[in-house]
Amino acid sequence: MASRHISLFLYFVLTILLSFGNAAEQQQPLQAVDATPKKVAIIGAGAGGSFTAYQLRKLADEAGIPVKITVYERESYVGGRSTTVNVFGDPAYPIELGASIFVQVNYNLVNASRDLGLTVRSADYARPQEADESIGIWDGSQFVFSLKNTYKWWNLGRLFWRYGLAPLRTQNLVKKIVGQFLRLYEEPLFPFNSLSGAAIAAELLNATASSGAAFLHANDVGSLFAREIIQASTRVNYGQNLQLIHGLESVVCMATDGAVSIEGGNWRIFDAALSASHAHVNVNTTVTGIIRNSDGTMQVSSKLNAASTSEKTFDEVVVAGPLQYSGISISPSLDHTPDEIPYVNLHVTLFSSPHRIAPQYFGLDLNARAPETILTTLPEDFNPENKADVGPSGFWSISTLRTVDHPTVNSEETEQHYVYKIFSPERPTAEFIAGILGLEKDYVSSNATIGDLSKNDVSWCHEKLWNPYPVLYPRVTFEDTLLAPGVWYTGGIESFISTMETSALMGRNVATLMFQSWQKDVRVNDGAATEKFPKNESLYQLPHHLFRDIFDPVNTRPIPYKCMLTH
Ligand SMILES: Cc1cc2nc3c(=O)[nH]c(=O)nc-3n(C[C@H](O)[C@H](O)[C@H](O)COP(=O)(O)OP(=O)(O)OC[C@H]3O[C@@H](n4cnc5c(N)ncnc54)[C@H](O)[C@@H]3O)c2cc1C
Ligand SMILES: *[C@@H]1O[C@H](CO)[C@@H](O)[C@H](O)[C@H]1NC(C)=O
Ligand SMILES: *[C@@H]1O[C@H](CO)[C@@H](O)[C@H](O)[C@H]1NC(C)=O
Ligand SMILES: *[C@@H]1O[C@H](CO)[C@@H](O)[C@H](O)[C@H]1NC(C)=O
Ligand SMILES: *[C@@H]1O[C@H](CO)[C@@H](O)[C@H](O)[C@H]1NC(C)=O
Ligand SMILES: *[C@@H]1O[C@H](CO)[C@@H](O)[C@H](O)[C@H]1NC(C)=O
Repeated sequence: MASRHISLFLYFVLTILLSFGNAAEQQQPLQAVDATPKKVAIIGAGAGGSFTAYQLRKLADEAGIPVKITVYERESYVGGRSTTVNVFGDPAYPIELGASIFVQVNYNLVNASRDLGLTVRSADYARPQEADESIGIWDGSQFVFSLKNTYKWWNLGRLFWRYGLAPLRTQNLVKKIVGQFLRLYEEPLFPFNSLSGAAIAAELLNATASSGAAFLHANDVGSLFAREIIQASTRVNYGQNLQLIHGLESVVCMATDGAVSIEGGNWRIFDAALSASHAHVNVNTTVTGIIRNSDGTMQVSSKLNAASTSEKTFDEVVVAGPLQYSGISISPSLDHTPDEIPYVNLHVTLFSSPHRIAPQYFGLDLNARAPETILTTLPEDFNPENKADVGPSGFWSISTLRTVDHPTVNSEETEQHYVYKIFSPERPTAEFIAGILGLEKDYVSSNATIGDLSKNDVSWCHEKLWNPYPVLYPRVTFEDTLLAPGVWYTGGIESFISTMETSALMGRNVATLMFQSWQKDVRVNDGAATEKFPKNESLYQLPHHLFRDIFDPVNTRPIPYKCMLTH
């Protein structure tokens, strides 16, 4: 003890003496470190993968632990489901094909955009704002409600007049639930091995265990507001009705304060995070297999385009995207393979046109202006056989994104065109597009699609079928962060809340857990937080009578979830 005090004293004195001439020396980590870099493979360059790399680099650099990060991405670009396309192929007009907004309380994205020097702007900054009502909620035969401002639901006398206390109750519920969710960001809950355990600790299982409709009802939110406003939000955000989507995600849909996006595209956050992580990023490279060696290392096989397979050895591997769509084989096989989750099929149709949305399609006066954003809901008394049914509207949403200058053919002049985005469960027909643009009905053949329309009416288009998010059935268990020793997984959070922010949070969580496991190797075990929420089935033993298999309303086949709640 005594000698330790003396050496600390000497160290203190020496430090002061040296601090004048030798500042650089002090930056060196004080503890002895293993000079062999930790080798980490991250599969997927979306929100989850890029934030794993970003956080790991921060922690490792602070502790002076050398780490070599390799990212594999099978697409030719970084960002995953956050990606842009350019109207007319012109880089001056990038628009989001995937994830379009994040909000003020999305601290991982907000902080990273600040720290990485990106420009954040209001999500609807480019909207033309030519119509009185920027947003209308359409039930297939009438607008049930309209609002002037897209992302501000509150403080509107009209809301109270129509919906009574429901908006206020919803606002309070949003505040409460967001507060509970944010506990996952901090100690003692962060970092978490078991998302199920963390969700229990944050008292969020009540919200995930029931449908949005049941959860809102239990919280005294009136059904008119739920159907007309909240369901319009769950439909545009998740392509799901309130009878289907769970309560947590339904409430999260109403947390729209400070909705923003990144100038040039949200993918820039993930691109900048990867650059800051000094990861070696391999695009066009598909990982096909992970072999866990007996010495604890991992052999990762990958293919550049269709070329021959190459193999590399790593200490840790992170699967940063839905495992079921990754095509990766893991051997020896996992003790527990994550549930295959049904994902939504979403057709995203982007196009430009000189025409405005036709008021007559929506039963409005020819001289009226249709709302620039049209959200949809189900009509009152509509009882779909299938809870996933889009209903009479036939689409989830139509938004006017911006205007662009379209060069005219025979002159230097330009013409103003509008850029639209449609979300729908089926591919839109040309007839439907012609209808909402107010074109002649007999103008198109019955099986034509948007690309068949005249360039005079649709000057540019881009269609994409996504699996954007899971069907968010009520459930009470979520996949853990570790699939096998050294094989980490971020995708489990998608059936809890599916956003860029939550994937980023899970990336940061996985990186922190991985880092702590290294610290345990090199230091005295100080009871690190990795022991929190160990996998323990008894954690999940909630009242049994609540659970039984339910039928997947999309495919009407039983789905094998142990822990789904029916209502
Ligand atoms: C149309 C649409 C709208 C959305 N709107 C919003 C929104 O407004 N706000 C919001 O927050 N979220 C939104 N989302 C959801 C959001 O995009 C996702 O939750 C989030 O981007 C998921 O990030 P991730 O990193 O977990 O997965 P991904 O972004 O899917 O990244 C996984 C990556 O892994 C790669 N990969 C998979 N397998 C392999 C393999 N074997 N080898 C190599 N690479 C592989 C994939 O190519 C992909 O790039 C939207 C999504 C879509 C599609
Ligand atoms: C990835 O592949 C695409 C399409 O094959 C190609 O255009 C692009 O240049 C490739 N990118 C890299 C970095 O190899
Ligand atoms: C974001 O930044 C704020 C202010 O610097 C900090 O208090 C907070 O912990 C950060 N949160 C995350 C998730 O990075
Ligand atoms: C969860 O719901 C049950 C009954 O539905 C209720 O008794 C309990 O108080 C709720 N818990 C929380 C944290 O809201
Ligand atoms: C419409 O579909 C029929 C049969 O499915 C096909 O023969 C015909 O060519 C299609 N017409 C157009 C315009 O695509
Ligand atoms: C699981 O949790 C229960 C209750 O918290 C505890 O009694 C039991 O010992 C745990 N089992 C394991 C294997 O950790």
